Amino acid sequence: MQAASFDYIRQMVKQQAGIVVEPGKEYLAESRLTSLARSQGHSATEDLVAQLRSRPFGELHRRVVELLTTNETSFFRDQRPFEALRTEILPKLFASRPDRRLTIWCAAASSGQEPYSLAMLIREHFPQAASRVRIVASDISREMLARTERGTYSQFEVGRGLPATMLAKYMTMVGGEYQVRPELRAMLDLREINLATQFPPLPPIDVLLVRNVLIYFDLETKRDILSRMRRALSPDGAVILGGAETTLGIDVDLERCTGANKAVWYQPNRKELR
Ligand SMILES: C[S@@+](CC[C@H](N)C(=O)[O-])C[C@H]1O[C@@H](n2cnc3c(N)ncnc32)[C@H](O)[C@@H]1O
Repeated sequence: MQAASFDYIRQMVKQQAGIVVEPGKEYLAESRLTSLARSQGHSATEDLVAQLRSRPFGELHRRVVELLTTNETSFFRDQRPFEALRTEILPKLFASRPDRRLTIWCAAASSGQEPYSLAMLIREHFPQAASRVRIVASDISREMLARTERGTYSQFEVGRGLPATMLAKYMTMVGGEYQVRPELRAMLDLREINLATQFPPLPPIDVLLVRNVLIYFDLETKRDILSRMRRALSPDGAVILGGAETTLGIDVDLERCTGANKAVWYQPNRKELR
């Protein structure tokens, strides 16, 4: 792909989704866009870029942005945050809200393994509370949201992180794939939310998982997203980032907490709770 076409794609992806595609990643853009170019009748991605340039932002541009996202995920990814949710974060929140709904926002849910892991964890360990938990599962990618909606996973996907006991209890075999049971699907509220733009109205968020997505943004975008997320939180809510992500260098009013198992999460500064 020529430099000018690559720059056009990079700028569009940054502008629309906040995602930074590093210089030198022409091969990535080329490989992700080849089949879309073919489906539009082009033999080269250059021609797809020319088509994009010739018209105002629309469905084709949106699809290009979607194709440049990275959707890597797995069930119970990194384990520790899920353990901390089970043993420390959720017991406290349930105790302080005996009759109220609890809202969890999984803000870059990809193909659904993360929100369904949460749904399984809650059904398994807090069965009485499950009916009052709502898990908002959002992503910028319509394709990923459609996958989450289907809730079907291959042998390979369930083999990555899903304990055999959970597989037997919460999934059924449908046409050679595993499908989540309807009671898990019922706990999810699927939304298309682009983190780089204003969030739609949401109830106060008690637990926010925004894992392995901030790494794709620059500092200014991260700061903006985290400060809007901070405002969306309940006063005693918790934010969980990915293993390689921190709030270091971002002046956002959140305090770092470390769990007994060394899991890390963030909470609004305590002085505000008084
Ligand atoms: C690497 S996956 C992480 C999935 C999951 N959170 C995990 O940790 O396993 C990153 C997800 O972020 C989504 N994403 C990227 N940019 C986004 C944006 N601006 N708004 C919302 N989602 C975005 C991608 O579509 C992708 O599904």
